[in-house]
Amino acid sequence: MRNKFFITTPIYYVNDIPHIGHAYTTVAADILARYNRLKGKKVFFLTGTDEHGQKVEKAAQEKNRSPKEHADLMVENYKTLWAKLDIKNDIFIRTTDTEHVRTVQSLLQKLWEKGEIEKRPYSGWYCIPDERFWTDKEVVNGNCPDCKRPVEHIAEENYFFLMSKYQERLLKYIDENPYYILPETRKNEVLGFLKKNRLGDLCISRPKHRLSWGIPLPFDDGFVTYVWFDALVNYYSATKYLANTPLSLAPEEDWWPPEHHLIGKDILITHAIYWSSMLMALELSLPQNIFAHGWWTVGGKKMSKSFSNVVDPNKLVDKYGVDTFRYFLFREVPFGLDGDFSDQAMIKRINTDLANDLGNLLNRTLVMIEKYFKGKIPQPPPYDINGSVDVLREIHLKNSVENIKGDFDDLMEKLSFGHGLDKIWDAINDANKLIEDEAPWNLWKTNNIDKLSSVLYTLAEALRIIALYLFPFMPSAAEKMWEQLNVEEKLTKINLDTGARWGRLKPGTTIKKGAALFPRIEKG
Ligand code: ME8
Repeated sequence: MRNKFFITTPIYYVNDIPHIGHAYTTVAADILARYNRLKGKKVFFLTGTDEHGQKVEKAAQEKNRSPKEHADLMVENYKTLWAKLDIKNDIFIRTTDTEHVRTVQSLLQKLWEKGEIEKRPYSGWYCIPDERFWTDKEVVNGNCPDCKRPVEHIAEENYFFLMSKYQERLLKYIDENPYYILPETRKNEVLGFLKKNRLGDLCISRPKHRLSWGIPLPFDDGFVTYVWFDALVNYYSATKYLANTPLSLAPEEDWWPPEHHLIGKDILITHAIYWSSMLMALELSLPQNIFAHGWWTVGGKKMSKSFSNVVDPNKLVDKYGVDTFRYFLFREVPFGLDGDFSDQAMIKRINTDLANDLGNLLNRTLVMIEKYFKGKIPQPPPYDINGSVDVLREIHLKNSVENIKGDFDDLMEKLSFGHGLDKIWDAINDANKLIEDEAPWNLWKTNNIDKLSSVLYTLAEALRIIALYLFPFMPSAAEKMWEQLNVEEKLTKINLDTGARWGRLKPGTTIKKGAALFPRIEKG
């Protein structure tokens, strides 16, 4: 089915509360989901929570709760934050859902029957926060090479997925499919890892006496499933949740595989290597793309409770508003690269790009339509350079708005959100320039009503189309722009390509000027 778009975020651990990093990936997925819905695609946007494993068990113990009670409480933090951030996911999966548990067990059984899983004695160093084993060589002074926290030595019998035999196939696949892992630097990182290291087999079980909070292995009830095996399967099991929903497909169609797995660079190896080889062993298609974005730091440091620098998105939204938060994340840092968060940077973006450039443009345009045309969108003369009105500058703005399309689709396909926004801002800047150059207040003074109609219609129509492009990024601000321009159609129902055609704004419509979209922030 070519017209489908399936996008996923990582499923987040319920041991802690969500911060700006979790919000980042989820808003990115929401932007792509909204954009693809606007393009007329059938979209399935999946997010959820990772609820098994030692990390969650330990967090629950510390709070004197059962792991399930703990998960039930913590999951609400994610759900409320996503509602607050205008996230429109289709399914929220929890790895404790019966349907997911059933799928994990059936895939394990399949791999077991195919001889892809073996039982062996094992000893190694275990890192609880990362939920993974490390070898003697990998451990650095008794600490995890990844998160730098102390590791524990463990010797036991376990089940192994025979991942090592997929090394060559993985190398070849990643090499031959340049879009499989993006950005390019991340692809090279995985290729480098596969070329340098001999891939081991993956321990996919934990004995119940050591960890009870997990999905029992279907072929040995003395063991539960390793949390990463369980978690990665969520992407596949969620497609089974769609039966009898508006997203259910005809029997010959399938939601699998996804168009994008969006993840942070911290979990690249688990996705690019563990998950890809699991899918190969299961004879399931690989996702079209795994995109590993960069890392947000705060004040140049990793976010951590010990530095007291964890940024709570709830507080930012309460302080600055949801659209400004979503905008900031994707305008400030190119998607794929690392970024540093500061209130100052956010305030600067809000005051410059949003309050000055966009908010003022809307406000000035609507004020002038109210003042000069009694609040009705004027009827413009034709865009004819040989006509009685000199419309050259209006044509320039019209072209600038129409030009967004050419690059925008390409940039959104590449997940170049920042450049996509740059394109929209080029048009916003041109619109502001039209006001400066034509000074409509002078046209009013000299009673040049035809020219004034031309300028103000052009500005209002530019704003209508700009709002349409902004909708994936700033859904509620875009909706307010349409409400103030009194556009009849709904942004959730319109198709981007038809909606962006110039001239759909009806002259004679009475505008509904409202409160300023982006008030200036005076101090931090
Ligand atoms: O790893 N900057 O869950 P998790 C940018 N349950 N993104 C960040 C970030 C930061 N500072 N911090 C977190 C897990 N993220 C597993 C995933 S998937 C089958 C299982 C985002 O709660 C980023 O997307 O630790 C990262 O990959 C994810 O949160 C890790 O979330």
